[in-house]
Amino acid sequence: MKNNVFLIGTHWGDEGKGKVVDVLSENAKACIRFQGGHNAGHTLVINDKKFILHLIPSGILRDNVKSVIGNGVVVSLDALITEITELEENGISLSNKLFISENCHLILPTHIALDQAREIKLGKKSIGTTGRGIGPSYEDKISRKGIRLLDLKNETIFLKKLEDLMNYHNFILENYFKTEGINTNLAAKELLEKYNKISKYIIDTDEYINDLCKQGGVVFEGAQGTMLDVDHGTFPYVTSSNTTLSGVVSGTGANMSLINYGLGITKAYSTRVGHGPFPSELKNDIGKKIGKIGGEIGATTGRARRCGWLDLKVLKKSIRLNNLSGIALTKIDVLDNFDEISICVDYGSINYETFEVENLEFIKLPGWRESTVGITKFDDLPKNTKAYIETIENLADTSVDIISTGPARDEIIQKINIFDV
Ligand code: GDP
Ligand code: IMO
Ligand code: MG
Repeated sequence: MKNNVFLIGTHWGDEGKGKVVDVLSENAKACIRFQGGHNAGHTLVINDKKFILHLIPSGILRDNVKSVIGNGVVVSLDALITEITELEENGISLSNKLFISENCHLILPTHIALDQAREIKLGKKSIGTTGRGIGPSYEDKISRKGIRLLDLKNETIFLKKLEDLMNYHNFILENYFKTEGINTNLAAKELLEKYNKISKYIIDTDEYINDLCKQGGVVFEGAQGTMLDVDHGTFPYVTSSNTTLSGVVSGTGANMSLINYGLGITKAYSTRVGHGPFPSELKNDIGKKIGKIGGEIGATTGRARRCGWLDLKVLKKSIRLNNLSGIALTKIDVLDNFDEISICVDYGSINYETFEVENLEFIKLPGWRESTVGITKFDDLPKNTKAYIETIENLADTSVDIISTGPARDEIIQKINIFDV
């Protein structure tokens, strides 16, 4: 039987998860999102065409792969319908392919307003959220006020819950943030209309997911990255979900004993979008050069991503926290044109007021100054590229099982078949 595999970004997101999930989906039966929402932006490049998925799993472009949005995901009906429409316009059928958990919590228009009002009030101390209502929706889930997709089945119950919750939100918006509230009747009408468009995809997913796992070949697709985890990341500069291993289980109901392989997605250098500490950040021309060659512009918000050398301390933490079996190292080609490449191997404490970091330590390796774009065999990589990869393996005590050499689907080196180890 094929392995079931989970994929987790090892740093601050945007490691190339979408691309790797798309590659792995060729041999998968199902692809499942377990946390986050449309704050994610996962990019797939197929025959020169770019697809950016925010909410729907990245296996959706494969004909025989089931896509499941697990209970741990917070759902904006607007974002969902926009994405479904875009896929359908590209000739991708979703019927009998897309399944959404009835336990997913909704993102309401007031969640978005609260997210944005809070960021404005925080001013210089803002998190730099995507402004999409993710945090407030999770807050209402944890405080047991939130509204789930299954609540929309019964219009009377839904309207009562929505009125109570939006009254509460509007009170905070108007009295604490001194901004405008949102009309509940209008929101209710729109939400019910949108729900009717997508209700056919909603099921009770936990039994379905466990049945799929018993057959093997399931890919659990993480969003964000380990350092954005609400418990283990650079709090408070994090997202509001568990982006790490525990999220796979709580966000789907999958039996952990059925999941056999954890793949960390690691970019060959590090990036971060939004505010917060970033120890290995390069606030100089090298950082700018990496950003330019790597096209480091956010897939969701269009913000420039901050760039730095690979943070190995974070990689080690991520391997530990997620019990990773191996790593997919992405965007190695972006480092083709550097004389010297550094790796940040250690540092002391982080000051969460100034983001300054004590005792930063780097090691330097020679660059390779040759193109690695599109290489599909490990042996064809330049000597110094192999040395860079082997240094990461040795220092982090892991194995780099997959190497991505470009944004396109076929620009990949698969040293092993991770469904089969
Ligand atoms: P995700 O959020 O982890 O799925 O990553 P994003 O899609 O937000 O950002 C990754 C970006 O890098 C996208 O523009 C991808 O098309 C691109 N990408 C992925 N893998 C590679 C690679 O190996 N080389 C290059 N040059 N670009 C890549
Ligand atoms: P993918 O899945 C990178 C960041 C935001 C902000 C913080 C909190 O594409 O890797 P939120 O809106 O979640 O409350 O914002 O988290 N963030 C991401 N950064 N990639 C992502 O997703 C992200 N999703 C959220 O920039 O710093
Ligand atoms: Mg992204």
